[in-house]
Amino acid sequence: MRTEKIEAAIAELETYAKHGESYTNADGRYGWRNPIRADTGGLLQALALTASPKRALEIGTAHGLSALYLVSGMPTGSHLDTIEFHEEVGRNAQSLMDECEVPVKVLIGEARAVIAGLEAPYDLVFFDAQKNQYHPQLLDLLERKLIGPGTVLLADNVIDREEECRPFLDWFVEQGVEHHVVPTECGLLVARL
Ligand SMILES: C[S@@+](CC[C@H](N)C(=O)[O-])C[C@H]1O[C@@H](n2cnc3c(N)ncnc32)[C@H](O)[C@@H]1O
Repeated sequence: MRTEKIEAAIAELETYAKHGESYTNADGRYGWRNPIRADTGGLLQALALTASPKRALEIGTAHGLSALYLVSGMPTGSHLDTIEFHEEVGRNAQSLMDECEVPVKVLIGEARAVIAGLEAPYDLVFFDAQKNQYHPQLLDLLERKLIGPGTVLLADNVIDREEECRPFLDWFVEQGVEHHVVPTECGLLVARL
């Protein structure tokens, strides 16, 4: 559900996004803090609406734009966890989620370390942190049984950063998991286990 508070927060974050602020740490390890492009938010919301997950996980919160789109499509009583390694960014995103009164918890820490401490399974996962980490993160989620048959998997940047996503994309082919790449500006992978 898109409330007035959510609409206002999305509008503000999209304005910021157009100005192109981006971030990388000193050695470039953590990549850009670029939010989803304008063509992807509504799509995430529609996919969340149709998948209707009770529990969803996002990897790569940044300022919370995609989290707001996802949670807007999720059913009443559902919950979204979202992982961000940058403490200040994560804390600010949590404040925004609280202001918007949405059921989102920002889990602060490096994604694989956070995943190692998670217990309950998820119905939907959106990958949007380091692109070359999608594959190990996917394997961690499977090994810890945090995802399984029926889980919807979404991943951004599988076209514009295809090379970094290659081991992740190859996994779907090798395992025979049906998947589709929606030709958004960056490329959104949509699959169901
Ligand atoms: C592309 S941005 C996410 C954009 C966000 N999904 C949106 O559309 O609004 C990636 C974010 O993931 C964070 N990040 C990168 N690597 C990470 C890691 N290994 N663990 C946790 N967060 C990470 C970065 O700090 C950055 O904020």
